[in-house]
Amino acid sequence: MKLKIALLPGDGIGPEIMRQGLAVLNAIAEKYGHEFTYEEALVGACAIEAVGDPYPEATHMACMNADAVLFAAVGDLKYDNNPTLKIRPETGLLAMRKKLGLFANVRPVATFDCLLHKSPLKEELIRGADFVVIRELTGGMYFGEKYQDDNKAFDTNVYTRPEIERILKVAFEMAITRRKHLTVVDKANVLASSRLWRQIAKEMEKQYPNVTTDYMFIDNAAMRVLTEPRFFDVIVTENTFGDILTDETSCITGSMGLQPSSSLGEYTPLFEPVHGSWPQAAGQNIANPLAQILSAAMLLEHFGLNKEGQLIRDAVNASLDANIRTPEIQVEGGAHYGTKEVGQWITDFIKKA
Ligand code: IPM
Ligand code: MN
Repeated sequence: MKLKIALLPGDGIGPEIMRQGLAVLNAIAEKYGHEFTYEEALVGACAIEAVGDPYPEATHMACMNADAVLFAAVGDLKYDNNPTLKIRPETGLLAMRKKLGLFANVRPVATFDCLLHKSPLKEELIRGADFVVIRELTGGMYFGEKYQDDNKAFDTNVYTRPEIERILKVAFEMAITRRKHLTVVDKANVLASSRLWRQIAKEMEKQYPNVTTDYMFIDNAAMRVLTEPRFFDVIVTENTFGDILTDETSCITGSMGLQPSSSLGEYTPLFEPVHGSWPQAAGQNIANPLAQILSAAMLLEHFGLNKEGQLIRDAVNASLDANIRTPEIQVEGGAHYGTKEVGQWITDFIKKA
């Protein structure tokens, strides 16, 4: 298969983990006879430095002209420490999501048996947990009308019927391919926007008789994902609730460094780790490249390259079993491997498989 992939390494640890994601893609291309071509582009703080815009038009064109985008992370301490700045790396991320129409953010939550002890939760509680959070990504408070002066400020949580229908469709269809259980998470006891979500979900439920659909308030869901994570199969929720819930669910997996995601929508699909740019660790060869590598697996699977995606997953599992791990997930007394060494081990595994 021929694939044109836009590479957006971004800031902080982004370039380091991207190099490993790229090495893995190249190993896969060679092994299976695919032709992957790449175009690298700037996003985030590095783009502000270079051209004064965190999501420059040239980057948007590179994304629009590609079949898929592999993205790492954006963010820099310089901006984190000064919240009054108007141009920020994060505004680039939001512009990218909006302009690429990436309304469906798919964040899988799975456990690795050998890393259960890394979770702050009890092992017997999380063993076997395996669900997907589908977060709406281009609507709600993030993009609604905003106002701020010294005495008053608001953000508007707007959702329209077409926006709700299209994200629910993604969720119902995802549920069909899995254990056929969808949980719609909202705050319909208080918020009008949530009541519309619930009304539309109830209408659509009838078209998916094989899917068991239930409804849960966000506050309750925030508790249930931690106390009973195996209850869930597919969760769908609005932008803000999904943002909060997926940081929370990352503690089930045990490390932010293990979670890939995809964002799908109107134009080019995008694949990225759930974690951020960890600027404090930049250049130190300590960041875990697995979320980036697993994002590359999700990219390939999106195009039906399931064997290829599976081989990457097998290689990742093998590296964990062999204790070839970055410091934050290494067993006590085990040797520490760097970003490069972990990536190299996985790439070699793929080549030899
Ligand atoms: C995420 C991040 C972003 C968000 C930030 C960096 C704007 O937290 O992808 O979850 O809030 O969506
Ligand atoms: Mn977040």
